[in-house]
Amino acid sequence: MIFKYRFGNPIPTDTVVKESEVREDAVPFVTVLEGESISYEMADADIVYGLGENVRGINKRGWTYCSKCSDQPHHQEDTHSLYGAHNFLVVSGKETFGLFLDYSGVVSFDVGYTTKNGLVITPADWNFDLYILTGESVPAIVKEFRGMVGRSYIAPKWAFGYGQSRWSYMTADEVRQVVKKHRENDLPLDSVYLDIDYMERYKDFTLNEEAFPNFEDFVRELAEENIHLVPIIDAGVKKEDGYSVYEEGMEKGYFCTKEDGSPFVAAVWPGHAMFTDFLNSEAREWFGNQYAFLLDKGIDGFWNDMNEPAIFYTEDRLKEAFEKLDGFKGKNLAMEDFWALLDVTGSLSGNEEDYKTFYHEMNGQRIRHDKVHNLYGYNMTRAAGEAFERLSPDKRILMFSRASCIGMHRYGGIWQGDNKSWWSHLLMNLQMSPALNMCGFLYTGADLGGFGSNTTEELLLRWLAFGIFSPLMRNHAARDTRRQEIYEFEDIPAFRSILKLRYRLLPYLYSEYMKAALDNEMYFMPLAFAYPDDPRAARVEDQLLVGESLMIAPVYQPNAGGRYVYLPESMRMFRLKRDGSLESSILEAGDHYVEIPADEMIFFLRKGHLLPMAEGGNSVPEVDFENLTVFAYPDDGEVSYEYYHDDGVGKDYDNPENRAVITVSGDVRGYEVTV
Ligand code: GLC
Repeated sequence: MIFKYRFGNPIPTDTVVKESEVREDAVPFVTVLEGESISYEMADADIVYGLGENVRGINKRGWTYCSKCSDQPHHQEDTHSLYGAHNFLVVSGKETFGLFLDYSGVVSFDVGYTTKNGLVITPADWNFDLYILTGESVPAIVKEFRGMVGRSYIAPKWAFGYGQSRWSYMTADEVRQVVKKHRENDLPLDSVYLDIDYMERYKDFTLNEEAFPNFEDFVRELAEENIHLVPIIDAGVKKEDGYSVYEEGMEKGYFCTKEDGSPFVAAVWPGHAMFTDFLNSEAREWFGNQYAFLLDKGIDGFWNDMNEPAIFYTEDRLKEAFEKLDGFKGKNLAMEDFWALLDVTGSLSGNEEDYKTFYHEMNGQRIRHDKVHNLYGYNMTRAAGEAFERLSPDKRILMFSRASCIGMHRYGGIWQGDNKSWWSHLLMNLQMSPALNMCGFLYTGADLGGFGSNTTEELLLRWLAFGIFSPLMRNHAARDTRRQEIYEFEDIPAFRSILKLRYRLLPYLYSEYMKAALDNEMYFMPLAFAYPDDPRAARVEDQLLVGESLMIAPVYQPNAGGRYVYLPESMRMFRLKRDGSLESSILEAGDHYVEIPADEMIFFLRKGHLLPMAEGGNSVPEVDFENLTVFAYPDDGEVSYEYYHDDGVGKDYDNPENRAVITVSGDVRGYEVTV
């Protein structure tokens, strides 16, 4: 059941698509102190799931999280906000219910931080819709929520292949080289990402013609090798006379303005830039139409970046900073002064004050940015998604964003922002994934290998061994870091077998993704979602279920050589050897120490389930999704699997012919699926 309550006069977020009636009775479960907080007293054993993109574990207890889209490239365990703002959680235990705050502003979630059992939610102002959801289980509540916020974005099938990225591949020849090296080394690849340097001096919807001459021909040339080029689009539009996007946006009044109506200018990659007012539907349509510049050249995938929006500095803040700096000149700086000095430049980026100095025109109303901060990246991606419906009604376009808010999940996926080549971020990637699925974000993945700082061969191997299960599987690294393409490392065969396994698993992974999207199900699940009566399963923080058949237990520590795995029931364990062969054995329920050298990986097939696998290939079009080998762990007798299969390009998602039931009683080779 869904219980909806309205407080004050909320700014529409367009997050909820299935309306419920506003109730006047007391809000169940929680205590509402109007103007202050919404709180709940947890029992010791209660678990809190959700909150989407955030630090810390699957169980969110023990920390304070703040929904405020933030550029946080150095995030760690003690960070409070990341790139997304996802206000949905489920309390599971003494009482089990879901809670969603449909709100555009900043909100904090104290989940047993101030007091061990206190869950305290504090929105910045008191204008929002509060939803309480009930159901017979945690997954049932999540499903109800997902139905309420609408169908998740569906990526084209090629976007389930491996993508290689770097900030930046500087020329067309460098991109060609990346492709060549993958092909020469027999490493699968479906996409290469273009970071900001493909543009002419970081101007959206332009091309650096010198570095990427005859772009259309180049796109076609790569397409012939089954490679898709995926360019980045930044939120900030460079302020430069003669640049048509800037001039048109100014003329039409589509950029955010300051209180006095003058244009708001802030610096990001292109230097001084304008922020399109994505909350104004006309401006949104205008910006969306700009994607045609690249769509017309054969591009069919994009990533939207810097759309929290990130702000490096504004002139106002810079002026203040210089004045403060002057005050330090010639002084004998004691400790406090010295720290204050460091803070002067350190607080220029993402400064709170800047977000209070610009305005949006939303449905004829002028709204200060901080009131709607979390809707900004959402609406940039919505601009693109709505445009793709107009410009490419029959063909799926890849779209994922950095900033997000629930609602955006209908228009695109997300990557998990700037992470680091740290082992802890591999674990965070795993722990965040089911929470994102709960909030509707299914097409997700982190920068595999880590974005900032230097990766190592072992970290990249382990990260890929998890990453092959992520819908978005992209290796991305920052400028000035060690080269992170697989062929730059020594043990190419080990990488090869892991990568090729992804392509063999694609029929299953894609089928599970599609069913999750179409039926509002989870793709990555905490163990407790499938084994609710097993108290041990509820405490597992480093294993996940992937769709209905598989469980994974990635290695996320250096030099580990293996790990403990908890099995809630007997499972069939697969071991991938470095030569690509798969061995399997049955493991009983309980705890096991499993040796997993860095050049091998393991995964598990659940009892009573099937795993359809393909022969593989070096790109998605090479994978045969119809002639499958089906691995089974029959319970007793026959076991069935609902297999979803379509062309991966069009949008005829609901055609019942896309689903076939496979029924077998043991492993079957060369199983033919007719759909
Ligand atoms: C941001 C993005 C990162 C990108 C960089 C340069 O930091 O998050 O992925 O490489 O900008 O465009």
